[in-house]
Amino acid sequence: MTRTVRVELGERSYDVIVGHGTRSELAALLPRTAKRAAIVTQDGIPMTVDPGLPFEVFTIGVGEEHKSLATIERLCDGFAAAGITRNDVVIGVGGGMVTDVAGFAAASWHRGIPVVHVSTTLLGMVDAAIGGKTGVNLRAGKNLVGAFWQPAGVICDLDALATLPPREMRCGLGEMAKYHFLTGDDLLSMELVDRVARCVRIKADIVGADEREGGRRALLNYGHTLAHALEIAGDFALAHGEAVAIGLVYAAHLARVLGRIDDARVAQHYEVVGGAYELDTELPGSDPQQLLELMGRDKKALDGLTFVLDGPDGVEVVPGVDPDAALAALTIMAELR
Ligand code: GLY
Repeated sequence: MTRTVRVELGERSYDVIVGHGTRSELAALLPRTAKRAAIVTQDGIPMTVDPGLPFEVFTIGVGEEHKSLATIERLCDGFAAAGITRNDVVIGVGGGMVTDVAGFAAASWHRGIPVVHVSTTLLGMVDAAIGGKTGVNLRAGKNLVGAFWQPAGVICDLDALATLPPREMRCGLGEMAKYHFLTGDDLLSMELVDRVARCVRIKADIVGADEREGGRRALLNYGHTLAHALEIAGDFALAHGEAVAIGLVYAAHLARVLGRIDDARVAQHYEVVGGAYELDTELPGSDPQQLLELMGRDKKALDGLTFVLDGPDGVEVVPGVDPDAALAALTIMAELR
């Protein structure tokens, strides 16, 4: 059972192939101009690929500290030594970190060469590998240097999920949970292959409409404003998807405080995040004022506190949220502990 989702971006449109064993379709997804492949991966990635072309493998370090400009320099030095040209292709094989780094190296090398991603984590499949966001961290913050660089194709091989560590799976489920609220689709009734493909479809439609995040693409940050604040306040003890799970429930409480949704809709958030996906929804013991301040500094903040919130017309970006309301929603969650 294979599903193909097209990301419509004019001349740069591409296919995302979802299903078990889809890595076997990699060769067919590569640009016809590609003569050789530079495979970028990490130790421990449970998948090897056959691009059907001569290839060289470049292994990057494991851990956020390797998501750095130094890694990009090392990769590009390797591309130089291997003589990689615009008539070749970079293939990122791994989770979000690998595809972000491989994508940025491809965007930078010779001012941009094609890249294809083979995503091996749930988070990568439903988010990171799709939509062309690439980049690395600086000491000043995560993903501060990067480029929009669309892949020429993406493989989501569900076989990789069989060996995914439970925490990585939880992170993917945290991102997946947000899609339940972006459209009216009953994602829970779908088999995994259809659910992943549907999440990709939702993201593809948003990216197709707003590639560079001038508007709608910001909806993909549902649950992320508190999530980013929790990650920073806790010194990244919470993984991103775990923080998003809590952030989704918080966004529901905040929307309720603002009178945008009712109690039943808040309960639906708990049913998906805590019930179906068994993710932790409890607000960790943090200083609410610090969280408020961090949320105000979020790089998506447009006008005061900015959130993506559910409401009568669906999920939308809401600037200028009253800090008292944001604090009240934090208090409600703190009292539920
Ligand atoms: N991860 C959100 C986006 O790709 O826009």
